[in-house]
Amino acid sequence: MSYSIVEKRDMVHQVHLMKVLAPDVARAAKPGQFVIIRIDEQSERIPLTIADCNVTDGSVTIIFQEMGKTTKQLATLKGGEELQDFVGPLGTPSEIDKLGTVVLVGGGVGVAPSYPQAKAYKEAGNKVITIIGARSENLLILEEEMRAVSDELIVCTDDGTKGHHGFVTDVLQKLLQSGEHVDRVVAIGPPIMMRAVAGVTKPFGTQTIVSLNPIMIDGTGMCGGCRVSVDGKTKFACVDGPEFDAHKVDFNLLMNRLAVYRDEEGISMKRHECTCGGEQ
Ligand SMILES: Cc1cc2nc3c(=O)[nH]c(=O)nc-3n(C[C@H](O)[C@H](O)[C@H](O)COP(=O)(O)OP(=O)(O)OC[C@H]3O[C@@H](n4cnc5c(N)ncnc54)[C@H](O)[C@@H]3O)c2cc1C
Ligand code: FES
Repeated sequence: MSYSIVEKRDMVHQVHLMKVLAPDVARAAKPGQFVIIRIDEQSERIPLTIADCNVTDGSVTIIFQEMGKTTKQLATLKGGEELQDFVGPLGTPSEIDKLGTVVLVGGGVGVAPSYPQAKAYKEAGNKVITIIGARSENLLILEEEMRAVSDELIVCTDDGTKGHHGFVTDVLQKLLQSGEHVDRVVAIGPPIMMRAVAGVTKPFGTQTIVSLNPIMIDGTGMCGGCRVSVDGKTKFACVDGPEFDAHKVDFNLLMNRLAVYRDEEGISMKRHECTCGGEQ
């Protein structure tokens, strides 16, 4: 079975949106879940979060950043082409309750997985404050979509080209210090950002959820590739997560394990550049 790409569009530099026809996934997907895709028989499997889905037309949206061989190859595909595998929805869905005030913090391409969560928390009757960040204005994604599902949206850029000049954690710290009662913080982005968010919220005792992105292979709890340590216990992010209590995650272990295959990833990328002549 193969899955048709119904739309592919470039969002910002090296970040792309792809809509794939997968009606079974669209029907079953809940916020916080992901798919594992394979481009063709020869490709590796990679996990990507379900950014949106449409039950009416059966499409599932993924938003991905070019990181290495597979995501760069994915970026070359166009509407009308096909993916070999599109397995999902995988992972435990987010627990979306009516809590009061929920702050969503999204960094870089992590804004994409934050979007279905912001939408769901809003629909559940929460006040939703969203803080999104990127290195620069031209790398910000989903600003208007996020604004539409948030009571308040704060934009941050590392270089000050838009919104707050600085990190999402500066804004979160100020918000918590201002006395705003926050019932839950949900942070999705690079591990270093999620670790920093956990550090900011801990002294305030604010419940904080992060969505972890370890290396995943089968996505079914069988291979152990996505092993993480939470509260000193081993968990498999593909089935026990990917969301966990940020204050209990061993982020250093996560970051070390993400770097384990860096040499092999570099070799694979070089081979890919040689075979496609570096053209995208
Ligand atoms: C649950 C989950 C959801 C994710 N959702 C998104 C998303 O919505 N958008 C997005 O852009 N990225 C997402 N990622 C990260 C994405 O899977 C990796 O960027 C991708 O696998 C990189 O593959 P590559 O061959 O292009 O790069 P490589 O050169 O192979 O690797 C670059 C880096 O990507 C990570 N990576 C590599 N292989 C895997 C793998 N099999 N599983 C996980 N991480 C890997 C490692 O940190 C590695 O150092 C998600 C990861 C997880 C675990
Ligand atoms: S990806 Fe294999 S156990 Fe989670």
